[in-house]
Amino acid sequence: MTARQPRTIPQPKTFHVTSFGCQMNVYDGERMAELLSAEGMTAVGEREAADLVVLNTCHIREKATEKVYSDIGRLRRDDGTNPLIAVAGCVAQAEGAEIMARAPQVRVVVGPQAYHRLPAMVASAALGGRETETDMPAEAKFAALPKRRVSTPAAFLTIQEGCDKFCTYCVVPYTRGAEIARPYADLVDEALALVDGGAREITLLGQNVNAWAGEDPAGGAIGLAGLAAELAKIPDLARIRYTTSHPADMDDALIAAHGENPKLMPFLHLPVQSGNDRVLRAMNRSHSADSYLKIIERARSARPDLAVSGDFIVGFPGETEAEFADTLSLIDAVGYAQAYSFKYSPRPGTPAATMDGQVPPEVMDDRLKRLQAHLDRDQLAFNQASVGRRCTVLIERRGRQPGQWLGKSPWLQSVHCTDDLALGSLVEMDLIDAGPKSLTGRRV
Ligand code: SAH
Ligand code: SF4
Ligand code: F3S
Repeated sequence: MTARQPRTIPQPKTFHVTSFGCQMNVYDGERMAELLSAEGMTAVGEREAADLVVLNTCHIREKATEKVYSDIGRLRRDDGTNPLIAVAGCVAQAEGAEIMARAPQVRVVVGPQAYHRLPAMVASAALGGRETETDMPAEAKFAALPKRRVSTPAAFLTIQEGCDKFCTYCVVPYTRGAEIARPYADLVDEALALVDGGAREITLLGQNVNAWAGEDPAGGAIGLAGLAAELAKIPDLARIRYTTSHPADMDDALIAAHGENPKLMPFLHLPVQSGNDRVLRAMNRSHSADSYLKIIERARSARPDLAVSGDFIVGFPGETEAEFADTLSLIDAVGYAQAYSFKYSPRPGTPAATMDGQVPPEVMDDRLKRLQAHLDRDQLAFNQASVGRRCTVLIERRGRQPGQWLGKSPWLQSVHCTDDLALGSLVEMDLIDAGPKSLTGRRV
């Protein structure tokens, strides 16, 4: 028999948050850390040293979900006891009851729209309870969160949550709930706090970030372009980015903003998933390959140096070789600066999981390999074409080698340099060398 966790344990004094999945989870992880710090707990760098471990989980693909259970197992200490374990994020939302049943050492399950309650749940779990909270929607959470206290040179700001699109393969509408947009005034406040804390770049986040809609102080209706224009007025904020956008919500104003708002970076992450219209319809994507290409074309005419990024799924149920080849053609037509690509993963409760024509794993492996060869080729070409460019690089952190810094170009490329620089500075550089994943810069 293994040693049992005592029913009651001392209130945790130290904590560690691990976030998996998308940037919104990274943002949520930062907010949870701020909440716990505000309660007097101390963040520690190592999980092993933490009284409380928060696993902020992702449910998007099967592999991501399995990771939660193996991570829970790995938290057990040599004496058989566990830290106080809280499972947060999208797996908590989707499989909260199952986690509680499968993993008795988990004391807290909290969904992505309910984590403002985390400190209270932890306190009561330490007294011997097991707490589950998976309420939606997100408005209450944002209202209950403390003011931002920590910032990094490049910071995230969630402006929109949830998804009403219901792509047939995707769990997000179920784990994050319906689309909500945070109010304009709250976002301006949070952006100001981030900039006060040292942020020079803010990435506006949302599952459908370009579906954001709000009202400016005069009561006028604005969208993402209007919000970005307003944030651009913050003097010390140098760069604005946004992700992830949906083709159906790329309105004229946002496309035009890429040519008009100098702080909006020349980068567009616009997932397409497939280049074949039958597959796109079966996915319930409300765009065609052609309408997607038109958006890219218009965005590029607004901002000729725009770098385009995308997401792809290979092996969606029923995808034939010829349909897959359409995706390769679309990739060749766009010329992506970077991209994410995935094998289709059937997710419980989604319509695609029970569709006919599930594609065998070895076919998916082969398609993914071929797809990534096209994407890698284009990414390297994009990086190589950047050599000789002069641009501003935001210095975000130390590199691995002594004296090395890592920053980002306007086109979201990682740039290494060894000049004597300061964290958070915006440095004029010449890009002098390129590899598949990064570039080398030299201060002008
Ligand atoms: N809201 C964003 C991103 C959602 S999740 C969008 O619509 O683009 C990020 C990416 O994960 C998706 O773009 C998609 O490419 C991938 N993805 C989502 N569900 C998946 C599944 N069941 N199997 C494989 N990839 C998936
Ligand atoms: Fe998922 Fe589609 Fe919504 Fe993106 S738009 S989160 S892929 S359902
Ligand atoms: Fe994963 Fe949830 Fe983000 S499922 S990708 S953490 S919205």
